[in-house]
Amino acid sequence: MDAPEQTVSNILEQDKLKWVFVGGKGGVGKTTCSSVIGILLASVRQSVLIISTDPAHNLSDAFQQRFTKTPTLVNGFTNLFAMEVDPKVENDDITSNDGINSYISELTDSIPGVDEAMSFAEMLKLVQTMNYSVIVFDTAPTGHTLRLLQFPSTLEKGLEKVMALRSRFGGLLSQATRLFGLGDEFNEDAMVDRLETMRGIIEKVNNQFKDPDLTTFVCVCIPEFLSLYETERLVQELAKFEIDCHNIIINQVIFDEEVVQSKLLKARMSMQKKYINQFYMLYDDFHITKLPLLQEEVCGVEALKQFSKNFIKPYQPSLTRGTVEELELRVSLLRSQLKEAESELQTKKKGK
Ligand SMILES: Nc1ncnc2c1ncn2[C@@H]1O[C@H](COP(=O)(O)OP(=O)(O)O)[C@@H](O)[C@H]1O
Ligand SMILES: [Mg+2]
Repeated sequence: MDAPEQTVSNILEQDKLKWVFVGGKGGVGKTTCSSVIGILLASVRQSVLIISTDPAHNLSDAFQQRFTKTPTLVNGFTNLFAMEVDPKVENDDITSNDGINSYISELTDSIPGVDEAMSFAEMLKLVQTMNYSVIVFDTAPTGHTLRLLQFPSTLEKGLEKVMALRSRFGGLLSQATRLFGLGDEFNEDAMVDRLETMRGIIEKVNNQFKDPDLTTFVCVCIPEFLSLYETERLVQELAKFEIDCHNIIINQVIFDEEVVQSKLLKARMSMQKKYINQFYMLYDDFHITKLPLLQEEVCGVEALKQFSKNFIKPYQPSLTRGTVEELELRVSLLRSQLKEAESELQTKKKGK
């Protein structure tokens, strides 16, 4: 069998794809990769929305444009939108009345994760009505994402709890509320309705998440031991949740290039090679895309577009070692270094 192609082209070709999750540890390049994947999808799909659910939002940094919790058109595009949402509960968005509010907070205290699950469900409900062809999630670091994907069972627990309370206290509860003048404000039927509606949305979305034609998860990592380890954990968790994952992006790879002269970089490069080989061994049926470590950050639409080339065509180091071109370049590099050192020496001498 041929090894899978080392690009993300497979994602662009999957024309029914609706949800693309991009995840991995902080700082590995999730936002950069989500932005680029969004840009690439916008060239083949009708409309694309990128959503950041990472509390450390940086879609705004990547695109150099301010985003809010409502979808905003990305400058320079006609069909690419972005939004940043807070995964923490926003009470005024979720509940409109105090009785329910206190009921919710009681619930959320007893079942960690319900508040987050609810706000995620609210967001998904909203997004579903907007009819984007495909939605890219720039997710929060690993643990957090997986918690959100667990939310159907979390909500289920919440619902059971409410039902149990209801059957235990039944009429007593409504009598008490009338007695204390809470009246309609504290309406447990409304609460149950709410949870039921949420559950409906969540069930629907969850079925979509488990359909590999509609959903895929892209793991972003760097070629280091910890990241390899984290990726393996993530891949296994995703399998447990039955979420498709067949793309790994290895970011910040130091390629064997003419500019790599320093001993430090060479040492890092051989360390990286060791882990990259392990990635290939462990994930021989995955599309593994390697991205070069750049000298500068990937900031702004132009830089992102430039960087996106590496997602659809494997990066080629600019020169191969030992060629005339490489030697010429090395000589000129050394010449300029010599020049710098000489002028520094001159300045030092004058200063004495
Ligand atoms: N291959 C790369 N070369 C150089 N800088 C990069 C590369 N990938 C990402 N960066 C920069 O590293 C920083 C962190 O990347 P980001 O995508 O925000 O990571 P995350 O979202 O995983 O925290 C950003 O400033 C980004 O521009
Ligand atoms: Mg980020």
